[in-house]
Amino acid sequence: MQVFPRLFLILVLLCACWVLYLLLGSRFCVPWFQLRCWHLEEEERHMPTAPGLARFDGYVSVPDGKPLARAQCRQCAVVSSSGQMLGSHSGMEIDQKECVLRMNQAPTQGYEEDVGGRCTFRVVSHTSIPLLLRNQSYFFKKFRDTVYIIWGPTRLMSREKVGLAYRTLLKMKEMYPSLRLYTLTEKKMAHCDELFQLETGKNRMKSGSFLSTGWFTMVLAMELCEQIFVFGMVNESYCRDKSQSPVPYHYFEKGRLDECRMYLAHERATRGGHRFITEKAVFSRWAKKRNIIFTHPSWPSD
Ligand SMILES: *[C@@H]1O[C@H](CO)[C@@H](O)[C@H](O)[C@H]1NC(C)=O
Ligand SMILES: *[C@@H]1O[C@H](CO)[C@@H](O)[C@H](O)[C@H]1NC(C)=O
Repeated sequence: MQVFPRLFLILVLLCACWVLYLLLGSRFCVPWFQLRCWHLEEEERHMPTAPGLARFDGYVSVPDGKPLARAQCRQCAVVSSSGQMLGSHSGMEIDQKECVLRMNQAPTQGYEEDVGGRCTFRVVSHTSIPLLLRNQSYFFKKFRDTVYIIWGPTRLMSREKVGLAYRTLLKMKEMYPSLRLYTLTEKKMAHCDELFQLETGKNRMKSGSFLSTGWFTMVLAMELCEQIFVFGMVNESYCRDKSQSPVPYHYFEKGRLDECRMYLAHERATRGGHRFITEKAVFSRWAKKRNIIFTHPSWPSD
């Protein structure tokens, strides 16, 4: 006879605990609920942004990891750092585009006539961070509205493990709190590698190559821009044609390296090369499917 009331009491207590657990658990995200909490976070992250804003999930801010959110650009100028820019007189045309994308440490000062002066986005290789740091007032004060997008291997760029390059970015952000600094997520880096493999049939890592900053810039531009104008990029066959007159590899480093010699050497390198020429063959295929126009030199469209 005494067994039943005791069982009943235990049952009531268990129910009470369960209810309490449910109430507290959902509020404070205790273990076991983590799955559910995680789902909530996911939902939050996929919440629609303000009208007119698009979210670019592969690019996250330093240090808080928020995805890049901004309006799409109707027209973009992607300005190559190539010596082809010299004497192109493209400055005005470039500055008239809604968004201007530049790469690494390419300056505008002194080259406005050919390359323009505005810079909405600057896509930067982790290896070029020291070059920006060498001229901080120029990059971080004069161009304080520019969005800096830094790419690099996870080993150096990890937020979670605070990689070496990421640590430098944290310091930059401390020195210039209003700096708009973003990194590519690990997933985005992998996606860019997959794109390369999909387009070339070659595994980027196994073929001993690195993607170029130009590759990451084109990927960003295709997400960001409705129409892309690329300035100063040569096509895939240009450097095989011996009759072309040489131009510097970078418009701002006159007389140092020759563009085509650089491209051909990189294309052949078995380790650590950039496949500039292969990448341009891919860009030309992308241009057939998307709104991409190559100017100075212009690429014939068929
Ligand atoms: C910084 O960059 C600008 C533009 O290229 C250049 O004029 C200036 O001399 C540079 N300053 C230093 C300290 O390198
Ligand atoms: C590449 O560019 C050169 C010169 O700009 C042009 O003569 C050639 O037809 C182009 N080739 C291709 C495949 O687009």
